[in-house]
Amino acid sequence: MKKILEPIITESDIKAVIKCLKETQLSGRSPICGEFEKAFAERVNVKHAIAVNSGTSALFLSLKVLGIGQDDEVIVPDFAYIAVANAVSHTGATPIFVDVEENTFNIDPTLIKITPKTKAIIAVHTYGLPCKIDELKKFGIPVIEDFAEALGAIYKKQPVGGLTEIGCCSFFANKIITTGEGGMITTNYDGIADKIRKLKDQWRGDVPYYHEGIGYGLSLNAMSCALGLSQLKNLDEVLKRKKKIAEEYIKSDFVPQEESKDCKSSWWLFASRSGKFKSEVFETRPAFMPFHLQPCYKQTGPFSNSEKIYNNVTCLPS
Ligand SMILES: Cc1ncc(COP(=O)(O)O)c(C=O)c1O
Repeated sequence: MKKILEPIITESDIKAVIKCLKETQLSGRSPICGEFEKAFAERVNVKHAIAVNSGTSALFLSLKVLGIGQDDEVIVPDFAYIAVANAVSHTGATPIFVDVEENTFNIDPTLIKITPKTKAIIAVHTYGLPCKIDELKKFGIPVIEDFAEALGAIYKKQPVGGLTEIGCCSFFANKIITTGEGGMITTNYDGIADKIRKLKDQWRGDVPYYHEGIGYGLSLNAMSCALGLSQLKNLDEVLKRKKKIAEEYIKSDFVPQEESKDCKSSWWLFASRSGKFKSEVFETRPAFMPFHLQPCYKQTGPFSNSEKIYNNVTCLPS
């Protein structure tokens, strides 16, 4: 049975991890991690990239670096992967759910209401399709770009991941490139990069065992970085294959998320708007369950589009 998302692991990937082990590069402080970060930053067209142990950690650290915590509110789309809401909750802040656009599945900027408590917006490019970043930036508060599903997607001719103050990517096993588990934070701001490097590794400084702040242990290990660096070399090939698969579905009359002149998808996962169905031949998946319906975040609407997507969309092998 054709799987919904199968990782592509090449012989070069395997060799890269073995080489890393033979060199006893193991921890997140190994040179290979710096090499992966540098190559990723170049690819996304940003000044800094900082490898961390998951996409959820990337979001959490991004919120922490902005000083977000108790009594603060963060705007998130009601329809996305649960990690987005959870990262906000882990800081002590409250995620505020906003309905999405019916045809793009991304946050609807016209529905956002800013209050004195609103401290940031998490802009998710769901299933790989860029959301309307410029319209989110107009609110004048920090925007965290979540491109976990959209590495390689294009917004107004720019790669996603470097369009706002901070970007967060995931390298979970089903993502466009994978390190098994892992993530990356991207930014053009030296101050943000410097603070995230401290926060993710116990606020280590130049003086041994001297810590000016309270940090976490959220680094990405060296073997994962070696795999990520090798996977990155194959990114264009993966994107090409995903686009071809999407084009085949479209030719077969499956209706995709709506791209536009400004928003070009990475086609991470083909989410068909042609109704709910199951196949005997290939794996299908339902759409994400909206946050407001989750037992851990239960609240009433109106979230008519996120519910409509949940009730009508089928994800196909990509
Ligand atoms: C949009 C989005 N954000 C964040 C995450 C969390 O990433 P991770 O699973 O690496 O923690 C994921 C998925 O895994 C995701 O799809």
